[in-house]
Amino acid sequence: MEENRKVALITGAARGIGKEIAIELAKNACDVSINYRTKTDELDLLKKEIEEKYKVRCFLTQGDVAIYEDAEKMVKETIENLGRIDILVNNAGITKDGLLMRMSKEDFESVIDINLVGTFNVTRNVIPFMVKQKSGKIINISSVVGVSGNAGQTNYSASKAGIIGFTKSLAKEVASRNILVNSVAPGFIATDMTAVLSEQVKENINTQIPLKRMGTAQDIAKVVNFLASENSNYITGQVINVDGGMLM
Ligand code: NAI
Repeated sequence: MEENRKVALITGAARGIGKEIAIELAKNACDVSINYRTKTDELDLLKKEIEEKYKVRCFLTQGDVAIYEDAEKMVKETIENLGRIDILVNNAGITKDGLLMRMSKEDFESVIDINLVGTFNVTRNVIPFMVKQKSGKIINISSVVGVSGNAGQTNYSASKAGIIGFTKSLAKEVASRNILVNSVAPGFIATDMTAVLSEQVKENINTQIPLKRMGTAQDIAKVVNFLASENSNYITGQVINVDGGMLM
């Protein structure tokens, strides 16, 4: 490992916000370990682009965050290949929207399993290494709906509210070990996750955003980079809303 270079593990980073976070951290001289669930040709291109453009190492690690053994494997592989983990970004997440009246137990559980239990699974495996090295930054991607609630998203907002409680509790547990834990709560961000929304819904959303636009994955990645950097060394247990002013 090159002197001073940090190593970051980002879950669900094959596309969308996670991919942009991996690029932003690489741009800022981090070696990056990109977790993905399903292999695609674009992933090899992303690895090549990151390595050539930013002159850092990029490792691809397969695994489903909802499966504890997969989380254990992605952490182990990252450390074997990149030497350590300084930054963990728990980004993998899904939605399975629907009104509670019609929501199946499976749709409730699978969202909790990936978004919330997945965050536990990966963090649980990273923490012993961070404790040993007496430093670390963990950034958990929540959502504004974890704070405000949203009709049709009981499963998703419960998982994202859970991530906020998890973040604050863990921040208190590990602050004495110089491990800082924060959460970023994005508003409406233009990615594949929100591409499914109708134009009408998107227009309605824009009217509720003081900045009058949906966010970009880069808007989120830049804040994650700040929380991963030395510029945020006195910030822990916080939730930063990155939502164009939607929640105040
Ligand atoms: P996306 O759907 O484009 O990307 C999610 C990524 O997570 C995908 O690469 C997917 O393969 C991966 N993933 C899903 N389940 C996984 C699993 N079990 N194991 C490993 N990887 C898995 O979504 P987007 O928009 O990039 O979302 C990223 C994060 O930001 C999610 O946690 C999401 O809940 C959160 N978020 C997104 C908002 C938005 O408006 N797009 C708003 C608020 C939060």
